[in-house]
Order: sequence, then C-alpha cells, then structure tokens
Amino acid sequence: MATTIADIEVVPLSNACGAEIRGVDLTKPLDEEAFKKIEAAWFDHLLIVFRGQNISNDDQVRFCRYFGDLEEVRTGKFANEEMRHTMMITNVTDTGFQTALEDGEMWFHSDQCYYEIPCRASTLYAMELPRVGGNTLFANCYAAWEALPGELRKKLAGLKARNIYDYAGNPVTRGDNIDPNAPQYFHPVARTHPATGRKALYVNRLMTDMIEGLPEDESEETLKQLFEHSEKPEFVYEHVWKIGDLVMWDNRCSMHARTHFDPTERRMMRRITVKGEAVS
Ligand code: SIN
Repeated sequence: MATTIADIEVVPLSNACGAEIRGVDLTKPLDEEAFKKIEAAWFDHLLIVFRGQNISNDDQVRFCRYFGDLEEVRTGKFANEEMRHTMMITNVTDTGFQTALEDGEMWFHSDQCYYEIPCRASTLYAMELPRVGGNTLFANCYAAWEALPGELRKKLAGLKARNIYDYAGNPVTRGDNIDPNAPQYFHPVARTHPATGRKALYVNRLMTDMIEGLPEDESEETLKQLFEHSEKPEFVYEHVWKIGDLVMWDNRCSMHARTHFDPTERRMMRRITVKGEAVS
C-alpha cells in the first residue's frame, strides 16, 4: 500500500537546516499528496532524513525518481554496469563495486558544481558506518547569503566564480597542481533556486577557486571570507549517521562536508543523484 499524507510527520532537526520525515517506509511507493508534502519539507529544510530504512538500490532509485530524472555517474565511477546511476562512497573494497570519495575528511562542496548542469538532489543511504566520525555537515546557503552585509551582496550579485574539481586530488586541499583539464564551470556566486525563488551563496572551499573579474588577490581574499562565513556553526547541521538512514539534500541551496573517521573502519554509503537544471 502506498504511503499517504496522513502517515507523514516532519520534525525539524536544527535551527540551520534539516528535517526528519517520519512515518515513511521507502520500500513502498508514495501517493501524489505524500510526495508533495515531502517535497515541501525538502524545500523548507534543504535536507530530509528518513531513519531506519531497509532499502534496495531499486527502492532508492524509485524514491529519487519522484524528484526528477536520475543523473548517470559522470566520472565513470558508477558501482557497476547494472547500476550506472549509483556511486558507492566507501572505503570497503571487498564488495566488487567501484568506489569513490572513500576515506576521511572532505571539505565543504556542492555536488557537481563544476559541471554546467549540476545535480539537483543527492541521496546517501548508510549501509556500514565507523564507530565515530564520518558525519556529514550540511550548511544552509540561503541563510549564509542573506546574512552577508548588503554592500558585499551588491558587489557579488552578477559575478561568477570558477568551480573545478580534480578527482585525483585531495578532498581537504585546494592545491596549486589541479589538473587544468579537470571538469570546471563558471557559475553565479549567488544562484536563484528555481522552485523557491530564493538566492543562495554558491561558492565552496573544496571546488571554487576564483571569482571572475576580480584581481587575483581580491578574489582570494573574498573567497576566504565567504568560506569562513558560510561554514559558521549557525548555518550548519551535523548529521550523525545511523545504519538505515536515507538523506536527500538540495544542492541548489546547501553544501556539505564530511568529518574525519578512522580509515581502518568500514564506511559504506550508496549515493544516487537527480539531474538538475541550468544555474541562474
Ligand atoms: C559526498 O560528498 O557526497 C559524500 C559525503 C559523505 O560521504 O558523507
């Protein structure tokens, strides 16, 4: 039987962002009203959490499809030929899956911001977890933008920044030796969410390396200021994972990072993303 609107409870998780959705079993379909309630919660809270799920890859695919077409993994690091929309974010190598973004801390970023069309939504499903750490931090980029001084917002509105990511690189450095052929794209420093109409800061420490049209020093200084501002605790919700959590976040108004964990412990997350639209 499909989940209906009456089954669903939305419980906010922090002042910054995030809500837990209760009363949903993601092995079952959602009726139209139930989906609309979940989508509205996602727009309001930027990321939604479903605890205690026991879902297959197909269940995760079905859930993601309510939000749009699926994005095929563009780095070629899909789990296997049959699961070309699925990326296994894991340090576990004994499963036969291809793996990606496996270990340790990862700086704040917005998924696929280095492509012309970044993905709209990302989902992660927790299958194996270390005892401590490997938490995911989510920052509210609407709030970060709105809290900037008006003069700075005026200066930044209309500017674009370069987003670039070298998958061979380190997830906690933005070194000088990024491959110039790594995927990259210039996007507005503040983007407008197509559904809510709100503006969100769209630069991040891991992948944004320069603001177009500013002298190099000023670009560096401004980015440093924006990174420090947008990562302040008041904008951030820290998700401490439990096995069976399914989290979906909106890359158009949030960014995320991962905390350190012991690389000798296993962490396995199944990721599926939903195609986005041109950034404006
Ligand atoms: C990601 O950036 O998509 C991975 C986040 C995580 O592993 O917690």
